[in-house]
Amino acid sequence: MSTIGGMRRVEGREKVTGRATYAFEYAVEGAAYGHPVQAPIARGRITTIDAEAALAVPGVLAVVSSADPPPLGSVEDPELAVFQSPQVAYHGQVVAVVVAETAEIAREAAETALRIEYQAEPHDVVLRPDHPRLYAPERVNPAFPGRTEKGDVEAGLADAAYTVDQTYTTPALHNNPMEPHAAIAAWEPDGSLTVYDSTQGATAHRDTIAAVLGLRQDQVRVISRHVGGGFGSKGTPRPHVIVAAVAARAAGRPVKVALTRQQMYDMTGYRTPTIQRVRLGADEDGRLTAIDHDAVEQSSTLKEFAEQTTTPTRVMYAAPALRTTHHLVRLDVPTPSWMRAPGECPGMFALESAMDELAEAAGIDPVELRVLNEPAAEPESGRPFSSRNLVACLREGARRFGWDRRDPRPGVRREGRWLVGTGVACSTYPAYRRPSSATAVAEDGGYVVRVAAADIGTGARTVLTQIAAEALNTSPDRVRVEIGDSDLPRASLAGGSMGTASWGTAVVRACEALLKNGGQEGRADTSEEVAAGSAFARHAFGAQFAEVRVDADTGEVRVPRLLGVFAAGRIVNPVLARSQFIGGMTMGLGMALMEESFVDPRFGDFLNHDLAQYHVAACADVQDVEAVWIDEEDPYLNPMGSKGIGEIGIVGTAAAIANAVYHATGRRVRDLPITPARLLS
Ligand code: MOS
Repeated sequence: MSTIGGMRRVEGREKVTGRATYAFEYAVEGAAYGHPVQAPIARGRITTIDAEAALAVPGVLAVVSSADPPPLGSVEDPELAVFQSPQVAYHGQVVAVVVAETAEIAREAAETALRIEYQAEPHDVVLRPDHPRLYAPERVNPAFPGRTEKGDVEAGLADAAYTVDQTYTTPALHNNPMEPHAAIAAWEPDGSLTVYDSTQGATAHRDTIAAVLGLRQDQVRVISRHVGGGFGSKGTPRPHVIVAAVAARAAGRPVKVALTRQQMYDMTGYRTPTIQRVRLGADEDGRLTAIDHDAVEQSSTLKEFAEQTTTPTRVMYAAPALRTTHHLVRLDVPTPSWMRAPGECPGMFALESAMDELAEAAGIDPVELRVLNEPAAEPESGRPFSSRNLVACLREGARRFGWDRRDPRPGVRREGRWLVGTGVACSTYPAYRRPSSATAVAEDGGYVVRVAAADIGTGARTVLTQIAAEALNTSPDRVRVEIGDSDLPRASLAGGSMGTASWGTAVVRACEALLKNGGQEGRADTSEEVAAGSAFARHAFGAQFAEVRVDADTGEVRVPRLLGVFAAGRIVNPVLARSQFIGGMTMGLGMALMEESFVDPRFGDFLNHDLAQYHVAACADVQDVEAVWIDEEDPYLNPMGSKGIGEIGIVGTAAAIANAVYHATGRRVRDLPITPARLLS
């Protein structure tokens, strides 16, 4: 494996030479262009839609809206029930689409000639911890109990020698994949539909699109060969896909819809803001006596999306008493959705900040405090871990980072204008696996492996090529992997960091079947194997170390060093894995210092909805970011022995940086992002 372990992306040349085709770029004959029209109010109803002037604009082909609702099938996700009702549930909800010969004509007609009038109602868009309509959701994403409790939390806190009781907040955050969401919908004469889409899973998107449009699954084909990032925002079909399909039906032509960057902020989901209260108790030695973690979050009036913010706390530390709860309020806002490590990412900012505060209160080194509270089994469930090398990550990270040279006192290191500090925080992410199927066929002197996997920039196609080659005992250049098409064997999403584990299992089993069948053809469906489950708690872990420099006058924070050490099973491809880890950490740096989606309470919309005003970390913000891993053998995962790596990198980064900012300045910032204004106030 060592020679192919660092294999470069198989489609790398196609991508860097511009030959890789992304959703919007397919040359579909006769294509027209759709421009989605969005509601300018946060709550209310449409009273008038007058499309006459828009339809009179030369080049305009059709206008679709709730004035004449297109027939849909069975719509589970109300976000996809486009043009079915005059009700407006949030600012930016799609209310019409204008179809024209060019994208420019469609937009021009939508903005200048389409007349829509509204009856606005008072709206409520601000999350607050004392909201009268807060309730406790039964389940949190994807299907965890909303609440867990074991032991006597109040007694554990009352008996503690040291306690922390603090509230931490994280803002709404938006995914900003390089490739905006886009789709082409083309109806065939026989009533079937082809969709070129930018998605994290062709199978699941095909199934949903078929149901929403009232079609059989075999009447819909979703093609998504290359995807310029997703992070969760392309994990579920977004409204524009259905808009494209109904627009194409109305226009009698294939229709292309590409969301603008600004439209993405309303229509492609976002990370819910959170208000989290963490209470920790510890005895004289620093051993936890109780953990209590509550999260307040939002969803839309359309549907309940309850993020699993406090679930990582069920996994992290030993404590005789442990309670994790969630509270939700339904506001007049777009429905939040997945963004890289939903739950773990904001939840671990709060827990790992609180652990740093406890270390300070108890006078214990923050690395040692975590080692001291290492559990023998998964704290909430009591199940044994299949493998857990968090302590090894902490120790290895401390060694590489030079942690032993750290002066524990906050605010004492100064270099000119710069206050210097270091911080640590842990990472965790579940090792999931979902059913998938695959085929392997001997063809043209080599092998072709087919699986409806998605490569959203992770390198999935490359890793599956390696996995197949290893299973077939051949070299990767004799294997061609076909992915990104719902006509391929059905497969799970590129989500939940479970792509490699899920698709890889199916690929290995298909290759094994091929070898058993005389070397010609093999097929596999892992439904039974995956459903068998495991008696083990399976999670990846990591430790992140940050050094920050804070300008004593301006409050500017720089991060000269970020180090992540991860334990994530077998690392199948070191080159691609490093990219995933440092990509996650870089996104975590953005979360720590700059990313924040502001809601305007007057109009109910996101104020900063483009890359000029929503700041993601850019090259100038990123200095030395390094990720390494420890060798971890875990036989209880899957044939590869791998854990997911797509999301764990972002988990813990913000807390490591916040803890370093405290160490540098003596100021604890509990509200992200850590802006100069917050530091200087
Ligand atoms: Mo990722 S948020 O599971 O697509």
